[in-house]
Amino acid sequence: MLILKKKTASLLAECIKEKFGEGLLSSDEIFTMLEYPPDTSMGDIALPCFRLSRTLRRSPVQIAEILAENVSCDEFSSVSALNGYLNFKVNHTAFASRVVGDVERLGDKYGSPMNGVGKKVVLDYSSPNVAKPFHIGHLGTTVIGHSLKLLHEFAGYDCFGINYLGDWGTQFGKLIVAYKLWGDKETIEKGGVDELVKLYVRINNEIKREEEESLLKDPDGKKSSPLADESRREFTALEHGDEKNLELWRWFVSVSLEEYQKTYKQLGIEFDSYKGESFYTDKMPAQVQKLRDMGLLEIDDGASIVNLDKWNMPVCLILKRDGSTLYPTRDIAAAVYRKNEYKFDKAIYVTSAQQSLHFAQWFKVVELMGYEWHDELVHVPYGTVSVNGMKLATRTGNVVLLKDLFAEAIERVAEITKEKHPDPKECLEIAEKVGVGAVVFYYLSNNRMRDINFMMEDALSFDGNTGPYVQYTYARTCSVLEKADVKGEMTDAELSDVEFELAKCLSVFPERINAALADYEPSIVTRYILDLAAAFNRFYHECKIVGCEDEKLRSSRIALTRAANQVLRTALHLICMQSPEKI
Ligand code: ARG
Repeated sequence: MLILKKKTASLLAECIKEKFGEGLLSSDEIFTMLEYPPDTSMGDIALPCFRLSRTLRRSPVQIAEILAENVSCDEFSSVSALNGYLNFKVNHTAFASRVVGDVERLGDKYGSPMNGVGKKVVLDYSSPNVAKPFHIGHLGTTVIGHSLKLLHEFAGYDCFGINYLGDWGTQFGKLIVAYKLWGDKETIEKGGVDELVKLYVRINNEIKREEEESLLKDPDGKKSSPLADESRREFTALEHGDEKNLELWRWFVSVSLEEYQKTYKQLGIEFDSYKGESFYTDKMPAQVQKLRDMGLLEIDDGASIVNLDKWNMPVCLILKRDGSTLYPTRDIAAAVYRKNEYKFDKAIYVTSAQQSLHFAQWFKVVELMGYEWHDELVHVPYGTVSVNGMKLATRTGNVVLLKDLFAEAIERVAEITKEKHPDPKECLEIAEKVGVGAVVFYYLSNNRMRDINFMMEDALSFDGNTGPYVQYTYARTCSVLEKADVKGEMTDAELSDVEFELAKCLSVFPERINAALADYEPSIVTRYILDLAAAFNRFYHECKIVGCEDEKLRSSRIALTRAANQVLRTALHLICMQSPEKI
């Protein structure tokens, strides 16, 4: 539709020039005024003439009438004036032929704005914290992040995905102590991250107990815990390169990573780099020094901070009283490293909205440091997720793990598909694509800032606006094409409204992609997929496709089906979903 809208705008600009005089309205200005009327019986594109009457010095009714008489083009079956609106009805056949032709010509590039060619984007997403659960709270950063990567790739950007693993910090001191006290190599090798998390939860509980006991003994004293002290000592040893601790640390990281990778594999995600927080340890001092040299650091109660009062933000903490670095310090060092190393044109960070202030703060600090690329940093936040109404609490271990969520979805789908697919391997393959897809689709159905309550029942339903439903629709297009006796191409056969609506839906795909990229909003693609699935299903139910007796019409309908098949596949891919040909 975009192309036709543009064409309409330039036709109108020409006509206005001719009938009303030079320099009154540009084609771009007219373009922004054109609408898609909600009731298409009036027209498919409309120009409300009310705002024109001042510029053109006529009443809206007159303007619409004059334009209606003087504008024409073979893609319109009629141009008419009604109550100050200029309505364009599109010639169904000509329009559908052009759209289907575009889809065929461009294939899996159809819809791409190709405006990223020659530019580089680095995306920092997923980034779980080692030895802490990889839970449903990470679903957002993982799938929004990856979808944004795919969208940028689609637009021609050279993309680089970074998993900024939380692989450093005092939790490793605790973990080392806990492992030495209660851990067992074999158990961890078998049980993976779950066992590490158990140790982590256990030591946190023990520390809490010790602290409470110390307060009971001495209500006025400071709370204390020998285990916490020991943990600090072990972390300091690790920081100083203690070989035994380093070895344990490497092992904890690799056990965790191995497990995360299983989930990434299910989602079809690969990262270009796993450089985590630990990597930046020796990159921070230079940035801290720069801050100091520039006079940006202030000492506040012993800590080093950057004052951000002028920008209405709390101070950005750079060094704690004991001189240790903080989350923002590391992010600043990492950004500088990435700019030098990857020479990005844009760096995208996807995290929960709870971290919005953190990003706003350190982005500002980077600006104050004089890095002219500060405006190439983009934070993409998202809302919270609960499951069946339950919020998450990491420290107590009361969480829904991503792997469990996927496993449950897969299992439930397998129950349904096993009747049709008795071969267990085949059944599992399909169940995996559909189950994981259902979770992803459900999650990406909402605007990213909305808080979501995840309901498995709803996500898995085959007859709501769900992943299984759209994948099923895709499989339906495949089965029609398989049955088709001819390749199918657009002919001059006259097309009804349903076919035209399908073509129209195909034609707005490029616009939706642009919007999704501009807003960093994969849900725009998800909603588009629902529109397209609905348009195709209406067409499928109302029109005989392979069984159509009219040869020309059959050919056009098969061609339309193939275009829908292509665009559905592209769109599903962009939101990290697979498109199985059979379900
Ligand atoms: N590991 C962090 C967390 O789980 C997210 C890291 C986000 N990326 C960043 N550059 N700060 O909360």
